[in-house]
Amino acid sequence: MTDLSGKNALVTGASRGIGEASARALDAACARVVLSGRTGADLQRVAADLANDPVIVEADLAPPSAGTELAERVLAAVDGVDILVNNAGIPMRRQPHELTEQDVDLVFSINVRSLLMLTIGLAPSMIERGGGSVINISSIASLRGPLGRVAYAGTKGAVDAITRALAADWGAEGIRVNAICPGLIATAIWEPDRRNVPGLIERLEDSIALKRWGYGDDVADVVLFFASDASRYVTGEVVAVDGGMARVGAAPRRR
Ligand SMILES: NC(=O)c1ccc[n+]([C@@H]2O[C@H](COP(=O)([O-])OP(=O)(O)OC[C@H]3O[C@@H](n4cnc5c(N)ncnc54)[C@H](OP(=O)(O)O)[C@@H]3O)[C@@H](O)[C@H]2O)c1
Repeated sequence: MTDLSGKNALVTGASRGIGEASARALDAACARVVLSGRTGADLQRVAADLANDPVIVEADLAPPSAGTELAERVLAAVDGVDILVNNAGIPMRRQPHELTEQDVDLVFSINVRSLLMLTIGLAPSMIERGGGSVINISSIASLRGPLGRVAYAGTKGAVDAITRALAADWGAEGIRVNAICPGLIATAIWEPDRRNVPGLIERLEDSIALKRWGYGDDVADVVLFFASDASRYVTGEVVAVDGGMARVGAAPRRR
């Protein structure tokens, strides 16, 4: 059983989906969790179930300086951060010719700029506390070329590169930096596609070696691994949590 007693963990995008599942898992392992996102009511719903004196810091990660400001506000609310789960992110499903400058700026500002600046803002606190663990939620869109999602794939490729570069910069300081690439995880992010593209999910499930969607918990368990001492000799890694979707062949479903 993972024990994160005495550790403070910040989870961005903690109000639903993978972030909510990660916040619940970290709390269950006795970490004190700082929940962040834009929607206070959703964050309060999650916090109400947590046992270890959770803290809410509302923030929109799209504007310039948002990552730096969130780091400052978190450090004003708790006495330091040991674990950072950079989970907040938005999709951007557009054909290349449909993309506008604004689309590209928006997806890069949330998925990349704020992730990087928040992480840099929290690093001194981790160093002061003897080290830490940064867990970046990337995507299998960074591992294989997805159709109609070039801007999103670009952000996640940047997240993977940032993961390896920060692992190099901060290894000597005791900060480990790793990334998780979820595959098809059943969260609100898929709702528009579920509604608008009939049969899409079933077709995608057929292409997964393990033949099912993932759930938030499937990712949260790997977040817990990276947050804990079990991964003490792992840094700069990018791990797919995708039932084999990105890199493993899929046999036909047994009907
Ligand atoms: N689900 C999948 O299949 C899948 C696959 C690969 C990668 N991922 C990645 O996993 C992460 C979480 O995805 P999810 O499926 O759990 O998504 P989700 O259910 O849509 O949740 C996204 C979270 O991010 C927050 N968020 C969105 N825009 C924000 C902004 N401007 N500022 C601050 N917070 C913001 C949302 O809260 P508010 O709306 O309240 O701000 C919410 O808590 C993302 O980085 C995504 O790219 C997901």
